[in-house]
Amino acid sequence: MKRLRYILLAAATALLALVWGCAQPQADTTTTATPPETAAEVNLYSSRHYDTDEALYEGFSEQTGIAVNLVEASADELIERIKSEGENSPADVLITVDAGRLWRATEEGILQPIKSETLESAIPENLRDPEGRWFGLSKRARVIIYNKENVDPSELSSYEDLADPKWQGRVLVRSSNNIYNQSLVGSLIANLGEEETETWAKGLVENFARPPEGNDTDQIEAVAQGIGDVAIVNSYYVTRLAESDDPDARATAEKIGVFFPNQGEDGRGTHVNISGAGVVKTAPHPEAAVEFIEYLASPEAQTIFAAGNYEYPAVEGVEVNETLAQYGEFKNDSLSAAEFGSKNADALRLMDRAGWK
Ligand SMILES: [Fe+2]
Repeated sequence: MKRLRYILLAAATALLALVWGCAQPQADTTTTATPPETAAEVNLYSSRHYDTDEALYEGFSEQTGIAVNLVEASADELIERIKSEGENSPADVLITVDAGRLWRATEEGILQPIKSETLESAIPENLRDPEGRWFGLSKRARVIIYNKENVDPSELSSYEDLADPKWQGRVLVRSSNNIYNQSLVGSLIANLGEEETETWAKGLVENFARPPEGNDTDQIEAVAQGIGDVAIVNSYYVTRLAESDDPDARATAEKIGVFFPNQGEDGRGTHVNISGAGVVKTAPHPEAAVEFIEYLASPEAQTIFAAGNYEYPAVEGVEVNETLAQYGEFKNDSLSAAEFGSKNADALRLMDRAGWK
């Protein structure tokens, strides 16, 4: 009996390897090993909630005949849910924002490595997990914004420079428990080392215009109101205001300039973070899951996926939203998202020591 089970297991493994090896994963119609209901759906757990994303999923269904079942919640809730569902989890694909969260998901052991030539050639190496457990699908830059009346952009240069005493009482940024800041500081740790980053963080805190409060939009509004002169925010928050139906929001965006720090020949580039997706370890439909992520990396889907939240496409050569494009082109920090994602906990401790609330 044991031997029979072993043979069956070996046969199943061989079959899986065969299907896995195919360039275009498809359900093998010659076998009855796969129950029929598993072939035509993919269960997506996503912490992104934009109408355009849903239009995109419909596009995938039309193209492939595979239904997309969407579960939306915050990234932490989705990770917890997959963990508690265990072996029985219906989740095939996890989509979330910030490399820090994708790294957390891998630490929790809920994503599986996948091999896809399509994804490996489409997504730059620094925007995906070296082991193939997640792939970046869109990029957001953590930029410096400034009040156009009070600041000349020639005064700005780098994240490091914001710790200079010339910015005393002028810097705004949200709290250290925010993952975007943890990833940014993680990138500084990777680039400069812990000691230099801690000295920087202490200097930055001394320059705060007020104790951290609110989200990135609140920092932009505070800069527009002159509560501070500069702020560190994700690029899409500015674009959202600029393209808003609300005239007040557009007036706020009008007062703001966008600056990409750490440019120039010696600059390492502006910190960029990602939205990304991975296949869940216990996915009941792993082939459809891979096909789905490959679809999201296609040029057509990339345009829609990134534009849905005014992000930059992860795939090179795909067009950027018009308003976003107006802020100009910039050099990206090429540091691997896996690396700064893995440094989030160190970053939080460091910010704590520096008095960054
Ligand atoms: Fe955000």
